[in-house]
Amino acid sequence: MLSFTVKRSAKCFFQQKNCLSSFNVIYENYGDPRKVLVGREREIQPLKDGQVLLKFLASSVNPADINQIQGVYPIKPSMPAVGGNEGVATVIETKSQNLKVGDWVIPALAGSGTWRSHAVFNEKDAIKIDNSLPLESAATLSVNPCTAYRMLMDFERIDEGDVVLQNGANSAVGQAVIQIATDLRIKTVNVIRDRPRVENLKRFLFDMGADYVLTEEECKTQLSDILRKESAPKLALNCVGGMSATNFLKYIRPKGTMVTYGCMSKIPFKASAASLIFADITFKGFWMSRWNDENNQSAERYRTLDYLSSLIKKNKLKCPPVSKVPLEKFPEAIENAMTEFTTHKQLLV
Ligand SMILES: NC(=O)c1ccc[n+]([C@@H]2O[C@H](COP(=O)([O-])OP(=O)(O)OC[C@H]3O[C@@H](n4cnc5c(N)ncnc54)[C@H](OP(=O)(O)O)[C@@H]3O)[C@@H](O)[C@H]2O)c1
Repeated sequence: MLSFTVKRSAKCFFQQKNCLSSFNVIYENYGDPRKVLVGREREIQPLKDGQVLLKFLASSVNPADINQIQGVYPIKPSMPAVGGNEGVATVIETKSQNLKVGDWVIPALAGSGTWRSHAVFNEKDAIKIDNSLPLESAATLSVNPCTAYRMLMDFERIDEGDVVLQNGANSAVGQAVIQIATDLRIKTVNVIRDRPRVENLKRFLFDMGADYVLTEEECKTQLSDILRKESAPKLALNCVGGMSATNFLKYIRPKGTMVTYGCMSKIPFKASAASLIFADITFKGFWMSRWNDENNQSAERYRTLDYLSSLIKKNKLKCPPVSKVPLEKFPEAIENAMTEFTTHKQLLV
């Protein structure tokens, strides 16, 4: 009997009579996540062949999750929708040939809703990962480190000693870029926003392998000299937009590439005619969700996850500092995630 098995092995969030239910953070309309998200108990249906019952162990709150709920993101799930796109779950009941009880999995595709205590997944919608990873790293593996790795791999051939320039360098993606680049012996020039006690943040990024860390303001006086001493970057990574990205264009090597993967300032950047005509810079975008759609279950996807997992196990790739918030206290995590200059990734546990 499903209900008894789960009761023994899973400490299910809710269990009433013979019916299991899961706690879900859902929204029925787009809007301010602080207003539209509600907690709902939902019944769990018995498993069919090829399905697994998952207990979510930890799920992250990323900027894209917020945008999705605001209705300004291209993923538009049918309503009511469960929030969250990233997290790690353990299999607690299985009717799958490939997944067994105790395996750890991440959702194969975005939009599957990870802010819930339990879920039934088709086995093809779950990707098994190493269950000896630290929980926080496993829960934050599939979006930001994968994005960082693919951007370093897929746009320019970057050799040892080459320089990559990035803004939003203290973001979770930026931190992963620094650590992966360090492993690959690629140098990083990292741009952050100024703030009180900025030296602490610089030290934090240097400690994880950053070669240079500059505030946006310091770029104006120091970036040229640094790149003259090193080499002009073939690749620049932009998640900020606005003047930050516009200013990058004069530093990128002719025929180099700027990859835009976010726009945290919500301000478009301007590409000068010179950057197009004389420098012939290529402007590309990257979206991990699309890459996953196009590479779902591919050998390259597993290689990416294996490489990143091995870095985590060697202590060369740490997840950003996290705040663990119980799932039922999701409003606290959402509020924290939407606060400016936040230093901790929110994890619903
Ligand atoms: N395209 C993709 O596939 C993909 C995948 C992952 C992430 N992303 C995007 O990458 C970005 C970073 O995501 P994350 O999870 O790494 O973020 P995160 O850890 O929450 O960090 C947010 C970053 O954005 C900066 N920021 C926030 N508001 C800003 C503003 N008004 N102007 C300039 N910078 C601002 C923060 O800098 P401060 O510390 O100065 O506030 C911080 O560096 C987001 O835009 C996210 O949607 C895209």
